[in-house]
Amino acid sequence: MSKEVQVLDKMFKVSIPSEEIQQSIQRLAQQINSDLKGKEVIFIGILNGCFMFAGDLFKHIDLECQITFLKLASYQGTSSSGNVKRLIGINENIEGKTVVIIEDIIDTGNTLDSIIKQLKGYEPAEIKVATLLYKPDAYEKTIPIDYMAFKIPNDFIIGYGLDYDGFGRNLKDIYTIIP
Ligand code: IMP
Ligand code: MG
Repeated sequence: MSKEVQVLDKMFKVSIPSEEIQQSIQRLAQQINSDLKGKEVIFIGILNGCFMFAGDLFKHIDLECQITFLKLASYQGTSSSGNVKRLIGINENIEGKTVVIIEDIIDTGNTLDSIIKQLKGYEPAEIKVATLLYKPDAYEKTIPIDYMAFKIPNDFIIGYGLDYDGFGRNLKDIYTIIP
């Protein structure tokens, strides 16, 4: 029987073991290293979910590059749309650089779309996207995803940085909800 865990009121079972995650991340890093060699690269991790992925990925990056982290905050005041999010924490100059967005998971793609629109305002040379997980059946956008470790079904998952109501981020494997 596969490993199960309870987080708050829900049960989850292992769907991607830690070893598989690490192997895929190494492959992804090799791809990034060879594609972006010689470019002026800055990685931008989107908090909170990316922290484990960004850390493990960055250990295998051998480019001369920078990394920084940004967060999405809800707009204060009157906004009818509940999912308009402002990107906060931009201190580095990204103008003319190759930006690699590091995301934990791309679901509908709304978050990614909003991040890219905001980053474009800072005039980077190009924007690449690296995500640990991607749900193709939920994706509503056409933005190409340059680097992706796993395509997964449209089920709720936790672990390896991803949370259910703030919990479960510390699990080293990725778990899928048991309906
Ligand atoms: P999107 O804007 O629909 O692409 O959603 C992206 C964000 O939703 C991610 O950065 C996660 O924070 C969250 N998310 C989407 N799917 C899951 C999931 O299965 N587990 C935990 N968080 C998720
Ligand atoms: Mg996230």
